[in-house]
Amino acid sequence: MAHTAVILAAGKGVRMKSNLPKVVHKAAGKPLVAHVADAVRAAGIEDIIIVVGHGREEVQKVFAGDQVKFVTQEQQLGTGHALQQAEGMVDPGNTVLVLAGDIPLLRPSTLKVLLDYHQKQQAQATVLTTHLQQPTGYGRVLRDQNGGFLRIVEEKDASPEEKNITEINSGIYCFHAGSVFRVLHQLQPANAQGEYYLTDVLEILKGEGHRVEVMSAAEPEEIHGVNDRIQLAQAEKILRRRKNYQLMRDGVTLMEPDSIIIDSDVTIGRDTVLMPFTLIQGKTVVGEGCEIGPWTNINDSIIGNRVIIESSRVKEAEIGDDCIIGPYAYLRPGAFLHNKVKVGDFVEVKQSQIGEGSKIPHLSYVGDALVGKEVNIGAGTITCNYDGQHKHQTVLEDYAFIGSNTNLVAPVRVGESSVTGAGSTITRDVPPQSLAVERADQRIVPWKKKKHDH
Ligand code: UD1
Ligand code: CA
Repeated sequence: MAHTAVILAAGKGVRMKSNLPKVVHKAAGKPLVAHVADAVRAAGIEDIIIVVGHGREEVQKVFAGDQVKFVTQEQQLGTGHALQQAEGMVDPGNTVLVLAGDIPLLRPSTLKVLLDYHQKQQAQATVLTTHLQQPTGYGRVLRDQNGGFLRIVEEKDASPEEKNITEINSGIYCFHAGSVFRVLHQLQPANAQGEYYLTDVLEILKGEGHRVEVMSAAEPEEIHGVNDRIQLAQAEKILRRRKNYQLMRDGVTLMEPDSIIIDSDVTIGRDTVLMPFTLIQGKTVVGEGCEIGPWTNINDSIIGNRVIIESSRVKEAEIGDDCIIGPYAYLRPGAFLHNKVKVGDFVEVKQSQIGEGSKIPHLSYVGDALVGKEVNIGAGTITCNYDGQHKHQTVLEDYAFIGSNTNLVAPVRVGESSVTGAGSTITRDVPPQSLAVERADQRIVPWKKKKHDH
């Protein structure tokens, strides 16, 4: 049977005290609503509709280039009204999974269990519930004498006895599409909040004699909603622990894992060792057998196999196999290192290709350069790539040897196997197999340093 998921994300999230809508806030490097959409996809549902309202452009931006559909709820009149907006977009024969956009800890396996149960029971509606020691704030699930579903009562509408119920509505449901959209038209906002409650649909369906099921399977943690920044931090902590444990299960060594922060979408190959105080963020891919850290921060980069990176910052860069980086290197956007490259201490590389086996061991700036293979760049070399208005390219051909403290004033090219003398400022192209020296001859002047020269 075909499935559609509807994610309700039109609310503002007042308690975040934010200019952004709540669901675009990130946990473990990924917007809350993207965590939910990814869980839905991993459960096997591709057809996803997101109900947007507050900050709708911001929410749409999260899914740029994605297959998800959007529908706008102009006024936030309640969860029932929110789902109703999707009516025209769902085939009446489908099963609809409804969930909120602020539950980043939800697992795909839980959704699968819910969908299976709904199907097996041939229910018109199934609600996922859990038991909480502190159920305050949630809708309570009332059951009949036989333990079947009776209705859901919201905290604000609940009697003192009903408030004692610890089984709560997770806000995650399966519905038969035709049934739920038919019944949504019957909702009345006759409640404490004056809203159209989606929860009332279950009671109406039950009253009509349809099958409404309760599945009490969610781990309390999974339905943890994010309403303020404290809950955001709590969710983040759990996501990070899960990610670190998953990596360790998959063959990555983490030394002192509590000090290591890895975003949800990062992948790392086996036998890679992460040392303390390392952050790997964004869509970074790390290969096998690497040693990363301590004190290293990498984001949105591709790292090959057997790469060593110590105490360095790597941002939107690509590093080939068997490279050695740091300590204290800074690889900036567009740095592209082929295999076996060494970038040592206090070296900055930006928007440059560094060929196989080349070395920039210490104290250099390489920007907008095309560096061939087995080039050696001496300490203190600077590509003077910026004339105040434009950036220019430096080309260092294969086997070039750049003497220490060379200024390469771009645009400039050093030919194959050529050498620049230490301390030279190179402003004109150097042909292949040549030495370019640019410095005053050393003079010798007779001189004696005074012994106590104060
Ligand atoms: C809802 C449930 C409650 C359940 C709880 C679980 C109802 C009436 N109550 O309560 O039983 O225990 O979730 O977290 O459904 N939204 C819209 N448009 C609206 C209103 C809400 O898109 O007009 C979205 C919100 O952005 C949010 C989700 O729906 O993502 C839930 O809305 P919220 O107001 O937080 O519902 P709760 O009061 O928490
Ligand atoms: Ca809520």
